[in-house]
Amino acid sequence: MCGIFAYIGDRKDAPEIVIEGLKKLEYRGYDSWGIAYKKGKEISTHKEVGKIGEFDPSELKLENKSEDSSVAVGEAEQSLFVAISHTRWATHGGICKKNAHPHTSSDEEIVIVHNGVLENFDSIKKRLKKDGHKFKSDTDTEVIAHLIEEYLKTTDSLKEALQKATNEMEGRYAVVAINKKDDRIVAARRGSPLIVGKGKDEFFLASDIPPFLPYTNKVMYIDDNQLVEIQKNKIEFTDITTGEEIKKRVIEIDLKPESAEKGDFPHFLIKEIMEQKETLHRAINQDPEVIREAAKAIKGAYGTYLVGCGTTGKVAMVGEYLFADISHKHVNTTFGSEFSNYKNFIKDKSLVIAISQSGETADTLEAIEVAKEKKAKVMSIVNVESSTMARTSDIVIPIKVGVEKAVVSTKATTAQIAILTLLAFACDGGVEKGKKILIDTVSQINDMINPRYEEHIMKLAKHIKDVESCYLIGRGKNYPIALEGAIKIQEVAYIHAEGFAGGELKHGPIALISEGTPCIAIVANDEMKNEIISNAIELKARGGYIIGIAPENNDAFDFWIKVPDVSHASPIVNIIPIQILAYQLAVLRNNDPDMPRNLAKSVTVK
Ligand code: G6P
Repeated sequence: MCGIFAYIGDRKDAPEIVIEGLKKLEYRGYDSWGIAYKKGKEISTHKEVGKIGEFDPSELKLENKSEDSSVAVGEAEQSLFVAISHTRWATHGGICKKNAHPHTSSDEEIVIVHNGVLENFDSIKKRLKKDGHKFKSDTDTEVIAHLIEEYLKTTDSLKEALQKATNEMEGRYAVVAINKKDDRIVAARRGSPLIVGKGKDEFFLASDIPPFLPYTNKVMYIDDNQLVEIQKNKIEFTDITTGEEIKKRVIEIDLKPESAEKGDFPHFLIKEIMEQKETLHRAINQDPEVIREAAKAIKGAYGTYLVGCGTTGKVAMVGEYLFADISHKHVNTTFGSEFSNYKNFIKDKSLVIAISQSGETADTLEAIEVAKEKKAKVMSIVNVESSTMARTSDIVIPIKVGVEKAVVSTKATTAQIAILTLLAFACDGGVEKGKKILIDTVSQINDMINPRYEEHIMKLAKHIKDVESCYLIGRGKNYPIALEGAIKIQEVAYIHAEGFAGGELKHGPIALISEGTPCIAIVANDEMKNEIISNAIELKARGGYIIGIAPENNDAFDFWIKVPDVSHASPIVNIIPIQILAYQLAVLRNNDPDMPRNLAKSVTVK
C-alpha cells in the first residue's frame, strides 16, 4: 500500500505543496510518513510515526546528518526544489521512525520511497550485507536503496542504476529515487500506481492524481515495467526490459480538485453513509449504451467471473445471486487473491468483471493480468476512473460516487450493487424494469438517512457496545450482506463479528450463541423470508438477542430496524443500517471511524 508524492520545480512553497499533497494520499496508509528534500547537494529528511493529519508544514525541520544544515521551510535560497515523500502502511518492519520512508543507501547518497513489496529482499539483503552494507531499518525498501548504490559503482547514471536494480527486484512496486549529486527524480513501476503530473517547467509524481490536481490536470501514466527520469523541464520514459525510450502522450484529465469536506458531519464515514441517496442516483443514471454493451458482453461470454476484494468481494457475491435470480444466469465469484486458482478455466471467450472502488487493489489487478494473459475480456465496475483498473479494462462502468474518503467502503458498495442489479436486468432484456426498481429504492432511502433513523439505531449501539462478539445471518442475496455487515463491524468497531448463511447455523456456528449474544437477522421480503425467520427463532431459543433488519416487525425480534420493501434491491437497503450501526459503535468505543487501526483504503500489496 503506501502513498508516494514527489515534486521537482521552482516553486518556493514546494515543501508545503508536498506535505499538503501527501495528506491527500493518507488513505493509502497512515502508520508513518516522511519527506526528503534536496537543497544544493544535500538531502534532508523529516519522518514521523502516525498520521500526517493536520501537520503544519511550517513546523517542518528538515534534518541533515552529513552537514549542519537544519533548514526551516521558507529559508532555502535555491531556485530548484526536489522533494519525495511517503505515507506508509507497514508491511516489512514494525511501525517506528527508523522504518518510516524515505530510506537511504549506506553512504546516504541515495534516498528512496517505495510502495509495494520486494519479495526477494531477504536474499538480496544477505548478499549486500556480505559486501559490507550496513542496514538501518527492517524494511524491504531500504534494500532497494542499497542495491541502487551497488549499481552506481558501475555507472554514473541514477536511471541506469535503478533499471539494473529493477531487473533483480521481484514483486510489485512503485519506487522513486533521488541522489545527492543530481537534480533529478527517477522512478520505476511494476504493479503499484505512479502517475506524472506535468506543469510548466515542473513535474509532480504521485500514487494518485489528487495531490497535484490543484496545480495541473495534465497527466502522463507510467505503465508496468516502465521507468521515468524527470528533470525540471525534461521527462523521459524507458521500457525496463528493452531499455528503449517510450513516447508518451500528455493527457488532459477532466477532473476538478474534489473537495471532500466533512461539512457538518463529525466524520467522513457518516457523511458518506448519508450521501447514499444521491450517490445511488448517480450510479443508476448510466449511459444506456455502456450498460447495453456490458450486458452483451456478459450474455456472449463463455464463463463470467466477478472479482473483488474485501467489501467488493462481498459485492461480487451479491452479484452472483442477482444474476441467478433476475436473469437466470450463472456467474462465478471469487476474491482477487483466489482468482489465479481458476486460471485453467479462463479462455479467450471468458469475461472477468473486476469490481473495485479504488481501481488499484493489487489482488484484483493481478486477476486482470491473468485474464489478459488468457486473452479474456475485462470489464471493470470502478469508482476512480483514472485508475489502473479502468485504464486496462475493455469495458468500464464508472460508479460515479465521488471521492470516498473513509477507509471502509459504504457509498461505493451500494452503488456497485445497484450497477450489478441493473446489469442483471439488462441481461434479461429488462433494463428499464431494473432502473425503475432502483429509482423507487432510492426514493425510499430517504426514510433511512435521517437523524430519527440514526437515533433509533443508536439505542441498539448503546445496548451492544461492550459485547465481545456478534453474529449476522442472511440468506440468498442477503447472505453476502451478512458477511459485509460483519466486516463493517470488525473494521471500525473492533468487535468480533461474523456473518453466516442462515441455513449453516445448525452445522456449527450456533454453538457460539449464549445468553444475550447479539444476532442480526437480515430479512428480505422474498422467498427466503420464512426460512431466515426460522433461523432467527433458533438463535433466540439459545438466548440470542435478535436484531431484525426487515420491512416488517416479527415476534422473533428483540430489536427491529425497519427497512423499505424493495424486492430485488433489498441488499442495498439492508446494508445501510449496519453501516450506521458500525459507525455508531466505533464512536461509542472511541475508535477513529475514518481511519481504523491497521487498515488502508487502497491495498496495493498482495
Ligand atoms: C481495503 C479497504 C476495503 C475495500 C478493499 C477493496 O481492504 O479497506 O474497504 O473494500 O480494500 O478495495 P477496492 O478499492 O478494490 O474496492
